[in-house]
Amino acid sequence: MLRLSSVWIILISWNLLAFARSLDDDDKTIGDLCFLCRCNLDKTDIDCSRRGLTDIPNGLGLQVTKLNISNNEFTKFPESLSRLHNLVNLDISSNQLKGLPDNALYNLTALVVLNLSRNYFDSWLNLNPNDVLLPATHLKILDLSYNKFQTMGNLANQELLISPSLETLILDHCEINSIHGRSPLSGLINIRVLKLNFNPLLRIQNLISSSLRSLFVSNCELTTLNHNELMFLPSLTHLKMSNNYRLELASSANNLFSQSLKYIDISYCNILQPNLKGFPSLRKAILNHNMVRYLESNAFANNTELEYLDLSNNNIASLRYDTFRGLKMLKHLDLSWNEIAVIPEDSLLEMPSLTQLKLSRNYLSRVGHLRSMSVTILDMSSCELNTIGKDSLEGLQSIVELDLSQNLLSYIPDSISSNTLKYLNLNYNRISSINNLTFFMLNRLTSLSVVGNRFTMIWRRSFFDSNPYLERLDLSDNMWRCDCSDENMRDFYDFVTLEPNKKEESFNLICNSPANVNTQTWLEACYFTWNPTEKTANADTLIWFIVVMIIGLSLCIILVSGIRSSMKRRLAAIQAERERQVEEARDRLRQMRIRAEQEALCNTPDPRDLIAPPSYDEALSMPKLNVSCHSLNETGSGKTRRKRGRRKTKSSGDLLEETDRNGDAPVYDDLELTETQEEDRQRRRRRRNRRYGSHEIAELDQSPGARRRRMSEYIVENDDSVIVEVQAQLERPLRPRNRRYSIDDNDVRESDF
Ligand SMILES: *[C@@H]1O[C@H](CO)[C@@H](O)[C@H](O)[C@H]1NC(C)=O
Ligand SMILES: *[C@@H]1O[C@H](CO)[C@@H](O)[C@H](O)[C@H]1NC(C)=O
Ligand SMILES: *[C@@H]1O[C@H](CO)[C@@H](O)[C@H](O)[C@H]1NC(C)=O
Ligand SMILES: *[C@@H]1O[C@H](CO)[C@@H](O)[C@H](O)[C@H]1NC(C)=O
Ligand SMILES: *[C@@H]1O[C@H](CO)[C@@H](O)[C@H](O)[C@H]1NC(C)=O
Repeated sequence: MLRLSSVWIILISWNLLAFARSLDDDDKTIGDLCFLCRCNLDKTDIDCSRRGLTDIPNGLGLQVTKLNISNNEFTKFPESLSRLHNLVNLDISSNQLKGLPDNALYNLTALVVLNLSRNYFDSWLNLNPNDVLLPATHLKILDLSYNKFQTMGNLANQELLISPSLETLILDHCEINSIHGRSPLSGLINIRVLKLNFNPLLRIQNLISSSLRSLFVSNCELTTLNHNELMFLPSLTHLKMSNNYRLELASSANNLFSQSLKYIDISYCNILQPNLKGFPSLRKAILNHNMVRYLESNAFANNTELEYLDLSNNNIASLRYDTFRGLKMLKHLDLSWNEIAVIPEDSLLEMPSLTQLKLSRNYLSRVGHLRSMSVTILDMSSCELNTIGKDSLEGLQSIVELDLSQNLLSYIPDSISSNTLKYLNLNYNRISSINNLTFFMLNRLTSLSVVGNRFTMIWRRSFFDSNPYLERLDLSDNMWRCDCSDENMRDFYDFVTLEPNKKEESFNLICNSPANVNTQTWLEACYFTWNPTEKTANADTLIWFIVVMIIGLSLCIILVSGIRSSMKRRLAAIQAERERQVEEARDRLRQMRIRAEQEALCNTPDPRDLIAPPSYDEALSMPKLNVSCHSLNETGSGKTRRKRGRRKTKSSGDLLEETDRNGDAPVYDDLELTETQEEDRQRRRRRRNRRYGSHEIAELDQSPGARRRRMSEYIVENDDSVIVEVQAQLERPLRPRNRRYSIDDNDVRESDF
């Protein structure tokens, strides 16, 4: 029974395991793909680029709409893709495809973008170009750039590419050097954009397409556009031909005609004459960085639709009054970076819609009498202008913004007038003064900028009495002379910086002179002149500071003197203690002396010893002794015995006298010295005494050495004091006593004190 159930359990668990494993497998196929590639949430966008793939990984679901297998190792177009009938965007760029099978795009009916750029295609035939695109009925963009086709032309009796839906064909960087044949575009009946940039093309002939709107042939090697080259592109609106370094528009190119062309870019070419007559519908023409030297009369007579004309960075030296005639719609004209010296007075009137005129970087020397009803923005910066006429702006009846920066203007005439001018930029000129009439007639003036001029005199508020709309003044980088005592400076500063009509940041107002305020802001330089109350307040704080200093100082002095007096007191206490010790020592000595006296009494030599021995007869007459004198010495110590030997030279009385003198005299000396001797000696002694406390003396008294010394004191014969002797012993190791007596030892003795 038990055995059966365990078999069951094993069976069931085995089944469960298998089931789990099968689930795992299912997950794994999807998981594998999204582990290898990057998927979005619903797995419609798969990015398998840069994975080193040679074939499509398993697990691609039918729902995929965007697949990126670029930068891999594909050498042939992956067949399994034809399952993906929802695929919209396929990127196989940067692989190693050499050709496409004619069924490559079967079932890819949803495909819109096919990117085949950066592959190894070198022959159109390998693409099966007549058939390959046909299944992809919604294909709009085909990128074949960076392949090596070298030509673009009809195949033998066939179209080049056939796709009824294709709108954009990109053939940049394909080494194509010619377009030939009947019409390479005839199989692309819906083509709108053709990009042929960066090909060594000399001509763009033979392009026939009724649908083509945009043609890009930048960075090719085009030299001329022939009369009929654009003729068979009736829908062409955009033509971009920039960076064809040798491209000219032949002066006889009257025939170069495109009724439809609206946008032309021929920048960075070799254009001598901007011949745009054949493009009556042109809206925007970019002709910068060419070789145009002059603009003839009626140069743009037929460009009545032109709105934007960029002729900057050419060599245009002169204009004629009727150069711009016919440019009825022109709004933006850029003539900067040319060599124009004079703008003919009425030439701008030919452009009734012109609003923005750029004339910067020319050689105009005076603003002149420009006349235009429409110009609102005029840029005449960096033109070497040195004169501006009083009535210069009168002809510019709509002028709003005038840039005259980076010129050589040194003077603005009084009452220069404009009813419309709002923004006047006079930065980096040489203007040094203005007055209350300068802007008198610019009553709409909103912003005035005079950065980097040569103003020194501070302006006056009254200069702007008639400019009620003035909001902004840029006055920085001038050489303002700050005279703080001048009422006007304060007044003008307030006018410029105070809210609510603040016109300039106060940190831009920097003094240049006088030297002591150089580089300071106006406010820094004049703060105390303008705020005298602040200054007194400052004086008050100075007084406070001084008071506080005095109090602090006196506190310090009190503290120091307190410490000093307490030190003195301590010193006095120490001195007293020392004297007490000396007294004690003296007492002890006295006692010792008494004891010694008693001892000595016993050893007193018999006065009879001093008398010459009696003669024999006398001796005979003397009474006889019973006891010997040596019996008296039995009580004395060995030392006393030793001393007895000296009795011959000194009497016990002498010895006592001497001990007395030697014992007491140093103490007196000591005291005397403390009072009378020179300072350093005193100090040294005090220090020594301090080190030498009473308990030390007591200890000293107990030590055997001390006893020895004490005994030896009785035989001291010179003027060294007992105390000094003890001190010396303490200070340094014992040394031979007799050293003291050496002749040349005076210094040592000095220092002993
Ligand atoms: C495919 O991947 C490459 C490299 O990761 C990337 O540069 C490219 O833009 C991608 N293509 C698309 C269509 O997203
Ligand atoms: C296209 O798809 C159909 C079904 O959707 C399939 O039967 C056919 O084999 C596919 N064709 C190719 C070439 O894969
Ligand atoms: C095709 O892929 C290349 C990179 O491989 C990319 O630069 C190019 O923009 C792509 N073309 C299109 C139309 O997306
Ligand atoms: C000017 O444009 C018209 C069409 O608007 C055209 O017929 C005429 O030939 C053009 N003139 C020049 C000189 O090309
Ligand atoms: C301009 O200032 C001068 C004095 O410098 C004064 O006589 C004259 O009335 C002022 N003119 C105006 C319009 O404020």
